[in-house]
Amino acid sequence: MKGIILAGGSGTRLSPSTDSINKHLLAVYDKPMIYYPLSILMLGGLKDIMIISTPQDLPRFEELLGDGSGLGISISYKEQANPRGIPEAFLLAEDFIGKDNVTLILGDNLFYGQGFTTLFRDALAKHKHATVFGYRVKDPERFGVVEFDHKQHVLSIEEKPENPKSDFAVTGLYIYDHRAIDFARKLSFSKRGELEITDLNKEYLKRNELDVQLLGRGFAWMDAGTHDSLFEASEFVKNIQDRQGFKVACLEEIAYYMGYITKDKLHKKGKAMEKTDYGQYLLDIASRKHTQQYWDAIEHKPMLGLVEND
Ligand code: DAU
Repeated sequence: MKGIILAGGSGTRLSPSTDSINKHLLAVYDKPMIYYPLSILMLGGLKDIMIISTPQDLPRFEELLGDGSGLGISISYKEQANPRGIPEAFLLAEDFIGKDNVTLILGDNLFYGQGFTTLFRDALAKHKHATVFGYRVKDPERFGVVEFDHKQHVLSIEEKPENPKSDFAVTGLYIYDHRAIDFARKLSFSKRGELEITDLNKEYLKRNELDVQLLGRGFAWMDAGTHDSLFEASEFVKNIQDRQGFKVACLEEIAYYMGYITKDKLHKKGKAMEKTDYGQYLLDIASRKHTQQYWDAIEHKPMLGLVEND
């Protein structure tokens, strides 16, 4: 399974904050926005990841994350010259995907909730053709909207409908087989001048191959695409972190507990940032004796046979 983070676009809704910096590099509280979707792919066990962004912004992402080896994963980069739509990611990443399955996550999407890792891993394991994740919202007309019956069979999917057939938004996390590339190639541009991910999902639905996985009320899903939602996402992360003392989307912590990096490497990374709370957090984990059990007890026990990696 390959992973793609789409982090391009024009970011005009966040102007002037994004006039000279890509939206996905702005901070959501104490770390860049892109950390959040990357953490989700990592928690899903994906290690081969491509970041797609604009030609002018791509070097900044590379500066931040390098080739991924610091996290024990592989990160490659691809330019999207113009924001021609979400499914273009599959055309740009054609060679990278090859005959594999692919998970796409939008760079401004933030998922959080007890059991999310397990749910996502189950979805990856059970995945057949195309899987989307539905989340109940008050304003479905702002999103892709999925309608389904009592057995959770998808009945329809529509992009920003005026009269939504359900309250369930399609979140920016999608799992596909490699046919996504062929389907993307055949799509036409919508009225807003983009290839639409909803049209690609309709191709799967036509074949009765679109599954929906619902995220319950205990989950938080946000997209940080406006000033208000960016502020709310920051506030949310701060509140959770201040209350629990666990960081949300701390990439080095995840890499450590996944067995991708050693305690020594974690310690060095913490040292390099020791003046920050983030650095202190890494140092604290590296100094604890029973963190593995702690982690297992909180949520991640069923995840993998997580290895002790001292
Ligand atoms: O957030 C979920 C929603 O994302 C879905 O419910 C919708 O079905 C889907 O169309 C999309 O809606 P938006 O209108 O909110 O997408 P937006 O244009 O804001 O782009 C979402 C992210 O993808 C954003 O981080 C920028 C990035 N992007 C977008 C486009 C169109 C790119 O990197 N390149 C692109 O060409």
